[in-house]
Parts: sequence; C-alpha cells; structure tokens
Amino acid sequence: MRGAGVAADRGRQFRAHKRHAVSSAMLVAAALAGAVLVAPTAAQAGQSAPVWQDTSRPAADRAAALVKAMTRDEKLRYVHGLFPPMTKPAPADMIPSAGYIPGVPRLGIPTLRESDASLGVANQVEQRKGDVATALPSSLATAATFDPDLAYRGGAMIGAEARAKTFNVLLAGGVNLTRDAWGGRDFEYLGEDPLLAGVMVGAHIRGVQSNHIVSTIKHYALNAQETDRMLADSRIDRAALEDSDLRAFHIGIDAGEPGSVMCGYNLVNGDWDCENKYLLTTVLRDQWDYPGWVMSDWGGVHSTDKAALAGLDQESGQELDKQIYFGKPLAEAIAAGRVPEARLDQMVTRILTGVIASGLYDHPTPATAQPIDYDAHAAVAQQVAEQGIVLLKNADGVLPLAKTARKIVLIGGHADVGVLSGGGSSQVRSVGGVPVEIPLKSGPAASFARITWHDSSPLDAIRALAPGAEVTYVSGDDPVAAAAAARNADVAIVFATQWRTEAEDIQTLALPDNQDRLIDAVAGANPHSVVVLETGGPALMPWLDRVPAVVEAWYPGQRGGQALARLLFGEVDFAGRLPMTFPASEAQLPRPHPVTPAGGAGPDSASNAGAGDTSALRPFPVDYHEGANVGYRWYAGQGEKPLFPFGYGLTYTRFNYSDAHFTGGAQPSATVTVRNDGDRAGVALPQLYAAAGDAPARLVGWQRVKLASHTSKSVTVTLDPRAIAAWRDGKWVLPGGAYRLTLGTDAVTSIASETVTLPQHVTEKARR
Ligand code: BGC
Repeated sequence: MRGAGVAADRGRQFRAHKRHAVSSAMLVAAALAGAVLVAPTAAQAGQSAPVWQDTSRPAADRAAALVKAMTRDEKLRYVHGLFPPMTKPAPADMIPSAGYIPGVPRLGIPTLRESDASLGVANQVEQRKGDVATALPSSLATAATFDPDLAYRGGAMIGAEARAKTFNVLLAGGVNLTRDAWGGRDFEYLGEDPLLAGVMVGAHIRGVQSNHIVSTIKHYALNAQETDRMLADSRIDRAALEDSDLRAFHIGIDAGEPGSVMCGYNLVNGDWDCENKYLLTTVLRDQWDYPGWVMSDWGGVHSTDKAALAGLDQESGQELDKQIYFGKPLAEAIAAGRVPEARLDQMVTRILTGVIASGLYDHPTPATAQPIDYDAHAAVAQQVAEQGIVLLKNADGVLPLAKTARKIVLIGGHADVGVLSGGGSSQVRSVGGVPVEIPLKSGPAASFARITWHDSSPLDAIRALAPGAEVTYVSGDDPVAAAAAARNADVAIVFATQWRTEAEDIQTLALPDNQDRLIDAVAGANPHSVVVLETGGPALMPWLDRVPAVVEAWYPGQRGGQALARLLFGEVDFAGRLPMTFPASEAQLPRPHPVTPAGGAGPDSASNAGAGDTSALRPFPVDYHEGANVGYRWYAGQGEKPLFPFGYGLTYTRFNYSDAHFTGGAQPSATVTVRNDGDRAGVALPQLYAAAGDAPARLVGWQRVKLASHTSKSVTVTLDPRAIAAWRDGKWVLPGGAYRLTLGTDAVTSIASETVTLPQHVTEKARR
C-alpha cells in the first residue's frame, strides 16, 4: 500500500539522521533534567541487546523492560506534557503545536511531539508562521464516502506530512457520535452510526500509524456537545452507552489499534471523563483489554489521586490545568502510598507500549523537517471531496451543468476565492493560503479559531471547465442584486455557508445571515438554480421545494472548489451518502435546543480550548434520553420523517435492485442484483439494516459497488456482528433469535425485507 511504502522509504531515509536526532534531543533532556549520563550501548559494552530492542518481542514486554531501566524521575517526567504556546522557556527543539513531552535519549525513548490532525496537520491561528499542510474535507465528508480505503488514504497522507514535519503523536481519530445536530464539532466526527463511524475511524487511524507514528482516538466518551463542554455531565444509561458511543470507540480501537486514547472534557454519569473509572478501567481495560495509553484532553484533568487510580496515564497540556496534577502532586501521592508505585510503572508501560506498537520507537521521527509532495497529497484531498459530497436533490435534469451554458453566475459564500472550513483545534492552514479569514470578536472559541476559507476557488474551477461560458460572481450580500444577476444567467449557483467551530454549538439550524432569503430570491428569478451547501452538519431548507438542485458539500477541503466543479459538470459522478440525518425541523431533534446550564448563560470561560480552573463552576446534567437510539434510530422510534435520511444520496445514474434474498445462519447476509440502468457509470451503496424485537433497525453492513452504464452485478452485503453483538469475555456475542433484515438504499427506503432466525453467534476479535 502506498502509505506503507512511503513509511518504509522514510524509515530508510531517516536512519541517516538518527545520530543527530538523538544527540540534539539529549541536550534538551540534559537541560531539563539537570544532568544526564549517556550509557554505552549493549553492543559497545559487549553484552546481548536489551529486551526493549528485540523487535520480535511483544510491544508490552519491550515497554515493561524499558520501564525497569528508567529512573523514577524519568518516569515521572513522561506522564505529564507541556503546552508549547504557554511553555517558558521553550526547549530548543519545541515547535509551536499542541503538546511536547521530553524523551529519555539514553534509552531511545522519543520526545513526544503532538499535533492536532483531524483533517490535516493543524496550525490554528498560524502558531507556526507560514507552515502549511494539506487540508482534507471535514470528517463528515470522509464518512459520506462509506469507503474505508479512502479514510485510510486520508490518514496515511496526514501521517506522512506530520512525520515530515517531525511530529510523532497525532491528536486525530475523533469519533464521538453526532447525537446533536447542534454540535460545533460535528464536522470533525464521522456521523451518527457506531458501525460506520467505528470502521471509518479505524481505517483513518491505521493510515496515520502506517507512518510509524501514534494516533489517538478521541474524545472518550460522550463529548457530544460543545456548549460548556467542561461542565456538561452526560447522563445516559450504561447499557445504552455501551450500545452506542462505546461501540463506535470499540470498533475504532479494534480496527485501528491507536497507540493512545484521549479522554474527553465532559463528565459521564457524574465523573469527569479523565477520572472516570468505569470508562478508563472497567470498559477500556477490563472489558476491551486496550494496551496503549490514555492521555487527557487539554485542560481536562481535575485531580491527581482520583485520575491516577481511575486509569488516566498522562496529563496533556499541563499549563492548562489548575495545577500540574501528574507532576509533584503525583510524586507526593506515591510517596504517601495513596497511589501505588506500580501504578506509575503501569502508566509509563502503557505509553511506551503505544510508542513501540505504532513503530515510533524503532523508526524515530527525523530531527528536521523533510520535503513533502503536496501535489500528490492534494489529489487525496480532492478524491475524498469528490466521493464524499452528496447530491440531495436534482429535479428536471438541472445537473450536470451543460457545457453549452453561456452564462453562469455564482452567488455568495466567497465562491470567487475559496471554500469554507470548520474552526478550532482541527484548523489546517492549507497549501495555497487563506483568501478570507475573519477573527471572532467574542465567545469561547475567540482565542483559537477564525472563520477561515481554503484557497480553492469554485469560480476559477468552473471557468476552467466551461471555457466558452461567461462565468461571473456576485457576493450575495444583496438579495435583490443577486436575483438580478440570476435572472440574467442560464444557471445560478448559490454557495450557502454555515460555520461551525469547536467550543461552541450552533444556536439554530437555519442558515445564518439571511441566506434563506437570498436563496428564495435567486430561485424566484431563475428556475435553473442550484444550491451548494458548505455546512458542518445539517441545515434547514425552507426553500427546498423551490430549488431544483441541492448539493451538500460539507467543508470540502483544500481542493473543494475543483471537486465541486467536476461534480457539477458531471466529470465525476456523485457517490456520497449522508452519514447523519438531516431533520425537517428543530422540533424533531432529541434535544430541540442546545443544552445550557439551567437558569441562564453558561460559564463560557470554562469552555475554551484550555479551560483553566473549573473548580468554582458546577457541572450540569445533559440527559441523553434517546440512549442508544442515536440519529436515524431516534427518528424511526418517534415515527418522524426527516428531511433527508441517513444513508441517502443521489447519483447521476439510475440503479435498479432485483432478486433480493437473505441468508441466516452464522454469517447472515443479503444478496441482490444491482443494475445500472442509466447512461453513466455510478456508485450504488446497498445498505443492510437489522432489527430485533421492537428496537429500531440499525446499520449492520454496506457495499460500495461501482457499475458501468447498463451493467449489473450480484452483490452480497454481510452482517458485521460488531454492529449488534455484545462484547463478552473477549468476544463479540450475537444473541440468537429473530431479526428483521432490511436491504435499503438509505435508512428509510427499503429494497426488500425478511425476518430470519439467527443462532447465537460468537466472533473473536474481528479486526479491520
Ligand atoms: C480539543 C482536542 C485537541 C486538544 C489539543 C482540545 O481543546 O478538545 O481535540 O486535540 O485541544 O489541541
């Protein structure tokens, strides 16, 4: 695979730099520690190689051997990390980014250099001047591809850039289920279904780690809202939690084997995530046997003894906590016998297990930045956009755009210069620069987010594909002027935007800034109007009946303009399907308003990236009463008809499904003949849903089928037991009984359905 090849080449390439890397890191460690004695290597001393260098041994054994060789101070230094923007004086090799933890050069233990990386190597508010990276579309777009190979390639691309920039721990792998359509970070996550989100995040993580660096999976768990996220106490029935958000994490860990898990800011059933024994020990260790380490979210630690005993292994961004809980207080707690010495060894063993298992220990990152093939990486970003953008409506053959159109007008959304991106720690400063950047005046995100456009002009891209047409742009600020421009054109395309950011939930699903009025005015002026939505999740569409074509472009990343142009002109077919339900109204949601503490405005100061002191603030409950019925299962249970269901998306061609039949037994599946009746190639996505008893059905499998025009294929979709089985004693146990299996083209549109009886079925860890 390409990612693995790059990693192997890099491994060879970097060995030449290793001596320098070690010696400069040694100086740093020496400065921090006061003094360091450099031990001779085993070979120099004429001894056999130590256990930790024996690559044939399991990572955990090598890690345990390393820990035995470490001093107590070295161990204590490895369990808490610095936040570079606040570290003074900064170590010589510290790059501005999210985190830095000095290593132990005499043992080859790497300095951990952490960067945010959900959508690319992040560089929020340009903390590293001039340092650009490739920006993927938002994770919702990746999820919409339903293609784990593409998720892998996106991860491999980010990992390669991170490694070349000398980062080795990526704060990636966001897999909180999008329970609330309000979620400020929904764009950073992989949708509302545990199987889809888990499979896709696992593939992404494997891609990142194919570069011999560590990826996290985050934010464990139930960090489902941004409003006062450090104080939101997510209340949920345990069985329902295990059946939903924890299922997504478990599948992601199983498939991706991330070196680290990041615990979230919020509380779950009364305990902060990062000191929640049920989450960190009962589930993660006792049930799932997870071998890597748990790092805190930045500013997410509230105690020493409780957190250490609950299972937190490393305090991140220590300057953001009220005190460095895992610094001196941990040493004191160990000395006083409140935290066993063995627990410190366990923390460090787990960190080193993640470091070794990911390949980082044996393939240290380069000491200096390496060249990056940005063109090849941009192609990955474009492919994810082309496969993940969703066609929601296409009446009267408005799309694809005819190359014969003489006059095309683009309206709004800064479509003359670029495409919108989401805000917060995932923000990439993309290759090509930032054509529009709007600082925030207030609010919890103001210190670390700006409204940022990537340099990928839809106007230029459309002009390039329609050289014979007159393609113009008007801003959309004035609906009357926009309508006049639309009236004068063959086709009008409105680019409507909805910005979302970490640390804030959106307060309405309606498009902001009078864009509904703008769309109405344009649609009234030109029957050939297209709306392209650049949103971080669902938006309401009161104008839907009056607009013939609607495209959900998400935040389409640094090649979004080019991808959109190709899709609009039909150079590539639409293949994306919604990974998240779009409601018809806010009243349909499980929580029809964003939740704030009872009695008024939330203590915003506690909600930002680094939260600081929350001791005076009181947590407040958020009731996840829908339990495991997240997203489409909620709508089904309520008998509500959404605007667009989960799994929905149109193509330019027409598929016909026939001869569907179902198989029970140990490997339940559905088989169907898919025929492409249209004149173009396209991607069909038959989806398999299963329901037991009265519970709403859930996605248990899908197949992505690319079919040339007028061809057909028999396709089998198998049931993935991880979607519905319970995890018992190290195995997935699917309870036997009657299941209603439905093959559909989305969560509500059935091709065929049948009740089958399944025997109890036990599956060992089903990786990948
Ligand atoms: C976010 C994490 C991020 C961390 C470091 C936090 O505010 O919740 O997702 O990785 O900051 O930047």
